[in-house]
Amino acid sequence: MTVQNRKVLIIYASQYGSTGGIADAIKKELGENGTIVETKAIKEVTDLDRYDAVIIGSPIQYDRWIPETREFIATHQEILKKLPVAFFFSCMALSLRSKKSRRQGQIYSDYLLNAFPEVKPLAIGQFAGALDLTRMSIFLRMAFRFIMVITGAKEGDHRDWNAIRTWARDADQRLSFAKGRF
Ligand SMILES: Cc1cc2nc3c(=O)[nH]c(=O)nc-3n(C[C@H](O)[C@H](O)[C@H](O)COP(=O)(O)O)c2cc1C
Repeated sequence: MTVQNRKVLIIYASQYGSTGGIADAIKKELGENGTIVETKAIKEVTDLDRYDAVIIGSPIQYDRWIPETREFIATHQEILKKLPVAFFFSCMALSLRSKKSRRQGQIYSDYLLNAFPEVKPLAIGQFAGALDLTRMSIFLRMAFRFIMVITGAKEGDHRDWNAIRTWARDADQRLSFAKGRF
């Protein structure tokens, strides 16, 4: 059961657009469920007061949630402690779909939980992302070609839209049940 007329804000950071695409898919799924949803790039967000719940998404870079996401959470920590909140991230490690890559996904989740122990997300979506080497500088492209040989990861769009939609429905349920509890 979903509490109607809830306003949910989906905030995303995205250097190359794929995490933004995931945010759009989550928005669509929640909208179909009757939730009022807005998506905003993290740089556009100034206040969180008008929302019943918040979902924050970020790419992983260099084994970390990117700095602008971490800075955003640090800045808005006080209100995020009181709001029902969910996180999601996209990364290439999860494109490998192995036991090792799932462990890596858990490390990325734990990193955020440890960095902000007082913010208690009701769900953390772990998604394979997308990587397009042609959009990178020559230096980064060479570095990634090397990393891919080592890890076995492949360039391309690995986003699993079914998994994203399933997570969105589950996260929406958790956020709606939490309304009024915080
Ligand atoms: C500079 C850079 C560093 C990255 N570091 C990691 C990493 O440490 N682990 C990982 O699994 N993926 C890593 N990735 C892959 C991204 O997390 C993935 O491609 C993501 O979907 C990109 O999101 P975006 O298109 O929204 O920027 C990295 C990508 C870039 C460009």
